[in-house]
Parts: sequence; C-alpha cells; structure tokens
Amino acid sequence: MSEPLVLGIETSCDETGVGIVRGTTLLADAIASQVDEHARFGGVVPEVASRAHLEAMVPTVDRALATAGVTLQDLDAVAVTTGPGLAGALLVGVAAAKAYALALGVPLVGVNHLAAHVAVDVLEHGPLPDPLVALLVSGGHSSLLLVPDVTDVRTLGATVDDAAGEAFDKVARVLGLPFPGGPHVDRAARDGDPAAIAFPRGRTEGAYDFTFSGLKTAVARWVEARTDIPVNDVAASFQEAVVDVLVTKAVNAAKEHGAALLIGGGVAANSRLRVVAAERCDAAGILLRVPRPGLCTDNGAMVAALGSELFARGVVTALDAPADPSLRL
Ligand code: KG4
Ligand code: ZN
Repeated sequence: MSEPLVLGIETSCDETGVGIVRGTTLLADAIASQVDEHARFGGVVPEVASRAHLEAMVPTVDRALATAGVTLQDLDAVAVTTGPGLAGALLVGVAAAKAYALALGVPLVGVNHLAAHVAVDVLEHGPLPDPLVALLVSGGHSSLLLVPDVTDVRTLGATVDDAAGEAFDKVARVLGLPFPGGPHVDRAARDGDPAAIAFPRGRTEGAYDFTFSGLKTAVARWVEARTDIPVNDVAASFQEAVVDVLVTKAVNAAKEHGAALLIGGGVAANSRLRVVAAERCDAAGILLRVPRPGLCTDNGAMVAALGSELFARGVVTALDAPADPSLRL
C-alpha cells in the first residue's frame, strides 16, 4: 500500500500556502503571496490578509492538486496551521481545512506553525537529526528551540522585543528600501562593508534570548544624523550585527546540547546568515541543515510535512478545534 497522501494548508500570516506530500515526498507546494497588497502599507494588515486568504484558498488548493496530479478524493488527511498567527488569517485556513476534511470524510490534523518550520526539512534532507537545536527566524518569530521530536519542541530562548525579520523590515524602511525589507537589505549588503559601522549586539539576560530593538534604534539614529547615507554599508553593518548574534547563540546552544543545528523561517533565506552559519558550524564540528529558501519562508509544504508525520502516528484533530493565535509549542 502506498504512503498516505496529505494536503497542508497555511494561512497564519500573509502567504496562502497549500502543500501536498505522500509520506515524506513533496508533490506540490502552491503559494499565493499577498506581499503586493501589504507593501503599500509597509507591513502586514490583518484584515487585508484574511480577505486575501479567502479569495486565494480554493484556487491555490486546485493548483496544488493539479501540480501533484491527484484529486481531492485521493487525499487521506487534511492538515492545517491552527496557530500561532493572525487570528482572522488562521480562521480562514482552519475553516477551509475543516470543510475539506468533512466533505471528503478524512481526518483533520492541526499543526503548530513553528514546529512545521522545523518539520519541513524532512522533505529535503530526510529524518531530523537527534539531538537537534532549531533557530527559527522570521517576520513574526525569533526562537531557539530544542527538538527531541517534532511533537516535543521546547523553547530555549526567544526574542524579547522585535523578531529578526521585523528588524530587517524596519531598517529597510529607514533606508528607503521596499517592503518586505529582508531581501532588499540582503541585496544592498552584498555591495557594502560589514565592518563599516560598529552597530551594537543586543545583550539579554537569558543566554538564548534575542533583542533587536536597540540595534534598530542605533541604525535609525545613525541614519538620522546624516544626509548622505551609504545605504550598502549601513545594510551590510546592520545585517552583520543580526547574523553575528543569531549564529553565536545558535552555535552555543548546539554545542551545549551536543546537537545538530537547523535554521528555518524567512530570515533563513538571508545569504550572509547561511554563509556565517556554515563557517561557524564547520569550525565547531556541528552538523548544519538549512532548507532551501522556498521552504524557509511560510509555505504549505511545511504544514503537509508535519501533518503527514502526525497522521502516521495516529494524531488527528477534532472538527470543533479552534484556531489559536497564541498557540504554544
Ligand atoms: O517566514 P516568513 O515568510 O513569514 C513569517 O512567518 O514572518 O518570514 C518573512 C520575513 C520578513 O520579515 C522578511 O523581510 C524576512 O523574512 N526575509 C529576509 C530575507 N528574506 C525574507 N530577511 C533577511 N534576508 C533575507 N534574504
Ligand atoms: Zn513562519
């Protein structure tokens, strides 16, 4: 008998993602991005996100089914992100997943968005290393996690203020770069000097916590005090400060736990983060796994990947389960 076919729906923020996996094999990963709709506001507007998810939902599911070459009737389970995320946005995905599951007579599998960012790596690199430390850095979250198992993810530390991606987006704005700022800062930094300006590395009480608000303010002050801004140098110096802090703490956590390191979330697409993490993990003898950029940013494949793993273990979710904007690990 072939492995179960699982569809995964992701609507926690501003991407409508629908992935389809068979076991741990990725068959389709359809995305409807709303970036353009939010760009003019300089950030994600929850009400706009919910409406866009509603419009994109059925076409994105249909596109994923067509890519995978399967029909709804072939599905064995429907997985969905139940949290954490924007309440209205989550509700659209959860309602859609329940409707598909009920209509098809297959189980619903609710998944945690952060655990899904970790689980997605099995689609690209096979079973997760054990022990494993995960650094999740995106627009909404920055956490260091200890992952004994995808159903048992423990928080070692988290941001005490801005998420790493949020800092990228805000600094981009200060530099006059478009939203979302991460990729633009990344590009500008390639032509800049990372040692041009000594921006602060935020200190925290918890060894594995992060803070980026002081760094963000330091960049804003530096820029405000000048008229002729060397955008590439500021971008490179800011990026270096973020990457240095993220990689230093992640490598320390991996060393402490004798673990491999996995990096996920939108900021894991950052080219400098990937290079520095590879160099320092190599030097410390730590196995590093980073999914390809398309699997790091929010997507449906990650939900299908974790849903498939849970379904294989017999974990299913009741049809009256709520969406939970502040769902914990
Ligand atoms: O995981 P994601 O797609 O959505 C959230 O869950 O937030 O992450 C989006 C975030 C944005 O803040 C974006 O600026 C950042 O990831 N990002 C990057 C890069 N690509 C995306 N940050 C730095 N460098 C990049 N290349
Ligand atoms: Zn995310």
